[in-house]
Amino acid sequence: MSDVLHELERTTYLQTLAPQMLSGPIQGMLLRLLCQLHKPKSILEIGTFTGYATLCMALGTDDDAHIKTLEVNPELRYISDAAFQKSGLQHKIESITTDAVKYVAKHPGKYDLVFIDAGKIHYSTYYDLIFDQVNPHGLIIVDNTLWSGKILETKTDRVTKSLRAFNAKAHDDPRVESLILPFRDGLSILRKL
Ligand SMILES: C[S@@+](CC[C@H](N)C(=O)[O-])C[C@H]1O[C@@H](n2cnc3c(N)ncnc32)[C@H](O)[C@@H]1O
Repeated sequence: MSDVLHELERTTYLQTLAPQMLSGPIQGMLLRLLCQLHKPKSILEIGTFTGYATLCMALGTDDDAHIKTLEVNPELRYISDAAFQKSGLQHKIESITTDAVKYVAKHPGKYDLVFIDAGKIHYSTYYDLIFDQVNPHGLIIVDNTLWSGKILETKTDRVTKSLRAFNAKAHDDPRVESLILPFRDGLSILRKL
């Protein structure tokens, strides 16, 4: 399996325009470990990209787990589909090409873990949309919440402001326990009470 992940990382760097969006081996291992510890049966990922994090979560879950992963860009699908097929874990993965904002509102589900890793200006929207779809004690994991440290500076661009607003919302939400892991680009882990 490490071969499939290594090849996927290489293909992503060779064939996509922003390969740094990929979770990569260390964050992938953390996602896998969190799945092994939490044992989610149903996962929603918002932002598949080339499927690296999807595969890491699939590796950490039991055989009857289901991962629904949403990606708006149809041009990435040939990469993620090929990797899912090679991994032997495809039976756990449902890949949907769609705009997550529209999809999540129209297709409510029940999830033990949600990984939010798509358009940063929509983080608060994703959070509000999925919140009632997360089971009690479920996890919401959110990537890039430190945004290269910009959230701590005086930057006022739209993305930084949106991430600051999301972090404040998560911190002040009495329905969750939350922390920002100062790891990579900042990974928030929220546990629904
Ligand atoms: C940071 S990448 C995801 C990385 C992936 N989760 C991983 O760990 O390897 C973000 C992805 O979200 C997708 N995206 C952006 N807005 C979206 C939306 N509204 N709905 C679905 N996907 C979206 C982008 O096309 C991009 O591929």
